[in-house]
Amino acid sequence: MMFSTSFIASALAFLTATSSVSAAPTDVWDPTITSPVAGTVWVIGTEVNVTWSTANEPAQVSNGGKVVLAQNKAEILTLSPSFDLAAADGFFTVTVPVVVPNDNYQIVLFGDSGDFSPSFTISA
Ligand SMILES: *[C@@H]1O[C@H](CO)[C@@H](O)[C@H](O)[C@H]1NC(C)=O
Repeated sequence: MMFSTSFIASALAFLTATSSVSAAPTDVWDPTITSPVAGTVWVIGTEVNVTWSTANEPAQVSNGGKVVLAQNKAEILTLSPSFDLAAADGFFTVTVPVVVPNDNYQIVLFGDSGDFSPSFTISA
C-alpha cells in the first residue's frame, strides 16, 4: 500500500474534525394515534389521513416516522416511506391498500417502539 504522508495526514484531520461534531440530543417519542380510532371505516383505494397528537412532541425526535398496517396486532404491510415525524405535523396521508375487508385492522405508527391504533374497519 502506497499512501502518501499528506494523504494520511489529511484523512486523519478529516476524521478528527467529523468525530468532534456531536449529534443533537433526541428524545424517545411514541405519538398517540388520533385516527383511525374504533369505528373508523377506510375504503380500499381511497386516500386517508393517519393522525396523531403532537401535544407532547419533544423538540428533537430521534426516529423517522413510518405507518404500518397490522391485522390482529401482527404487522402485515408498510403503508408509507420513512418520513420526518416532527415535520409531518401530526398527519400522514396514505392510500388504503387492497386487503380482505375486515374489522380487525390496526395502524402502527413509528415512532420509537410503535403505537397501535384501536381496531378499525377496512371495507371494499
Ligand atoms: C389530511 O389532513 C390535511 C391537513 O389537515 C388536509 O389538508 C388533507 O386534506 C387531509 N387529507 C385527507 C385525505 O383527509
